[in-house]
Amino acid sequence: MNILENISLKAYNTFGIDKSARFFTEAKSIDELKEALVWAKNQKIKALILGGGSNILLTQNLDTLVIKIEIEGIKIIGETDESYLVEVGAGVNWHQLVLTAIENNWAGIENLSLIPGTVGASPMQNIGAYGVEIKDVFWSLKALNIDSLKIEEFNADECQFGYRESVFKNKLKDKYVICSVVFRLKKEPEYHIEYGAIQETLESSGINELSLKAISDAVVQIRQSKLPNPKEIGNAGSFFKNPTIPNTHFEQLKSQYPSIPGYPNEEGIKVPAAWLIEQCGWKGKRFGEIGVHSKQPLVLVNFGDGDGNDIKKLAEKIQHSVLEKFDISIQPEVNFL
Ligand code: FAD
Ligand code: EPU
Repeated sequence: MNILENISLKAYNTFGIDKSARFFTEAKSIDELKEALVWAKNQKIKALILGGGSNILLTQNLDTLVIKIEIEGIKIIGETDESYLVEVGAGVNWHQLVLTAIENNWAGIENLSLIPGTVGASPMQNIGAYGVEIKDVFWSLKALNIDSLKIEEFNADECQFGYRESVFKNKLKDKYVICSVVFRLKKEPEYHIEYGAIQETLESSGINELSLKAISDAVVQIRQSKLPNPKEIGNAGSFFKNPTIPNTHFEQLKSQYPSIPGYPNEEGIKVPAAWLIEQCGWKGKRFGEIGVHSKQPLVLVNFGDGDGNDIKKLAEKIQHSVLEKFDISIQPEVNFL
């Protein structure tokens, strides 16, 4: 185990915030992970688990041992007539898994192309895009209990998946390290092209025959046209979750703002936070080194030397203005550290 001291985390978070970790190590196996957790316990400091750093906002230097999960491996562990069970190490890059699935004709995650980060973090907030969430293909996961240092297995019910939610973000927060995830990927694809601009993009690219690769390419094209590339402009994707409001509240807003978009779900009407934020005048606004993205106001950005606390304050101002104007409380998706 190689423990480094006072390491800048700038290269380890897609927001590109320059805060440091008092101690830093990488875990390439469960044994290395256990060793690092024991070391932190002996030093009486907390451990912080890091994947690709694409859903965190650093607001301070971390007086912890940051453990970057690097557990690799993609293997088939079971098969039925319809599907493969594929076990994937927590450190595998998510998009790399999507590309491997497409190469092998394993269907189900093509709509989730180009989401940054690691496989181990994917159940944390039940990642989703273009009509698919990982809960749709999730089979089970293995996680290390930080107290007992024993591996435990969780099925889908036990993970309590919701929209950008799981038990690991709530009741079991900071209690487990996800070490591997098993996905059930289909042998025969079921294409999901109804969401967003997928159909349109396929048509404009002259694609008549659907394939996993065609869908993945379309999703990549749409995402690249809207979302800033973290290598160029620091960001963590959507900063806020899309709120769901009661039908009566939506009707009331609709009479005042006829163009308000809304999508019914089991709990009410989901309203795009991007629309609410744009209506409050934030889209494309820049404040020194930080700002609100010009193409997607749900994305807060760091132009270079931005500070995590300034982004936090900007987020609070945005929340406040949306609450004042629409009486809707929008909640962050990003994890504050
Ligand atoms: P990190 O940021 O490293 O960690 C996130 C949280 O999970 C932290 O609390 C961390 O402690 C914890 N964690 C990480 N790994 C583990 C582990 N193995 N065990 C236990 N806890 C762990 N998300 C979507 O859902 N849909 C999108 O379409 C989407 N688009 C994005 C686009 C861009 C440009 C960016 C920058 C982000 C986007 N995201 C999206 C958010 C992000 O990619 C996902 O949340 C991703 O799953 C985060 O993975 P990560 O490895 O970077 O996690
Ligand atoms: N909109 C505006 N102004 C804009 C942009 C969008 O008003 O400048 C409104 C439009 O009404 C548009 C709607 O917002 O139809 C939705 O926009 P978009 O399709 O870009 O999706 P989103 O709701 O902003 C969500 C996810 C993304 C995911 C996409 C595609 C959340 C919080 N975000 O974004 O996930 O990739 O849908 O499925 O649910 C992430 O979680 O980090 C993330 C990027």
